[in-house]
Amino acid sequence: MNDPPKSLHGQWSSGLAFTLAATAAAVGLGNIWKFPYMAGANGGGAFVLVYLLCVILIGIPLLMAEITLGRRGRQNPAFSMRYNAITGHHSRHWQWVGGLIIAAGFLIVTYYSVIAGWALDYAYQAALNHFADASPQAIQQLFANLVSNPWKLILWHSFILIGSTIAIGLGVERGLERSVWLMFPTMLILLIIIVGYAAYMGDFRQGFQFLFAPDFSKLTTQGVLLALGQAFFTLSIATGSIMMYGAYVPTRVSIPRVSCFIAGADTLIALVSGLAIFPIVFAYHLDPAQGPGLIFETLPIAFGQMPLGRLVGTLFFIMLVFAAFTSVISLLEPTVAFLIERFRLRRTIAAGLTCFTAWFIGLGTVLSFNHWQNFEVLDFNFFESVDFLTANLMLPLGGLCISIFIAWRFNQTSLAHELHWRHRWSLIILRGLLGILSPLVIVLIFAHALYS
Ligand code: PFF
Repeated sequence: MNDPPKSLHGQWSSGLAFTLAATAAAVGLGNIWKFPYMAGANGGGAFVLVYLLCVILIGIPLLMAEITLGRRGRQNPAFSMRYNAITGHHSRHWQWVGGLIIAAGFLIVTYYSVIAGWALDYAYQAALNHFADASPQAIQQLFANLVSNPWKLILWHSFILIGSTIAIGLGVERGLERSVWLMFPTMLILLIIIVGYAAYMGDFRQGFQFLFAPDFSKLTTQGVLLALGQAFFTLSIATGSIMMYGAYVPTRVSIPRVSCFIAGADTLIALVSGLAIFPIVFAYHLDPAQGPGLIFETLPIAFGQMPLGRLVGTLFFIMLVFAAFTSVISLLEPTVAFLIERFRLRRTIAAGLTCFTAWFIGLGTVLSFNHWQNFEVLDFNFFESVDFLTANLMLPLGGLCISIFIAWRFNQTSLAHELHWRHRWSLIILRGLLGILSPLVIVLIFAHALYS
């Protein structure tokens, strides 16, 4: 048990490949769909400021912790946690923390893939020019028609998970890495094109002001907690993704540097997505604080009216699908690796089984928007229950346990060695952030989620 384990699944071909894959895992619907509407509804720049603080003080330290645990364990998160615990002479039960985060990532996919499917449908509708000159009511109707049609939702949801089966089934280098190399740069190029277009055609000044001018009067305690939750969500903390991808990292990679890069790039992409969306929203006098419907019910109105709207709309939704897809595969890989390592399954079988089960459970989310809409337990329908369970309970709990483990259970000399740190003070700061600040803040989010 004391020999450093080797990954059964190979490694990323380079440090750059890992950095790209982990950034692509972090960048997803959370950046393009969720961040702009949250910032829009919670005081713009004031929200952004709090969110940045959360990313720096809690997000980056947790990324460093997860990559370190993954790289030392070189297995799925449950076995990596067990290895780290046992070699540090602690209880093997820490493996349950790994189990918790694997389950969280898997459950997230069951609904995340359905929403990625909406984006796929919208790319198709935009390409067919269905938004052209449509009134706001017509666009709302389009959305209502989509979510009320379970067959359509199942079709797109199936596409996403069949694609994931193939990408994951092909393995780390041939499947995951290639998908990321293909999709992430394409996604970035599309984002740049759309921002350029928004700057040129939209009301960039107003969009910029809306996103960056801080209005602290609109920032409530609720907004602060939302910013914290968003920092977790967007960096894929406690979903198994980052710890799993960390298990495939070459040893020479600098974990602190890569963690800062992932967090920086993820934040930049969230901000740039805001700058792609709000100038268009303002130029067409739409409501920037509309909430979750901003992308699916508001933005297409503008695509339907603006010059080149058919092309820009199609590219926008393709970009969203690519961003979501690279997150989906990262959220499923921990379950697949677990099945391979625990039951010695072939990768293709493990990938097929995992994706099929996620697809099947996802049918519950599909039906939550139509036939099962009113089928509620404690005021939550199926989709809302899975969302609440994962985002509000499992992620904070996983994050809390990882912080405590690395700060209070992990050998600090080994930590310094893993991080290639020679200065004691860096370690003391990291330990303070992970051992004291992070647990305090997470307990706060937790209490708030349960209370509300
Ligand atoms: N970080 C990705 C995103 O922002 O979309 C993937 C993700 C991770 C989504 C964790 C949801 C989640 F709870």
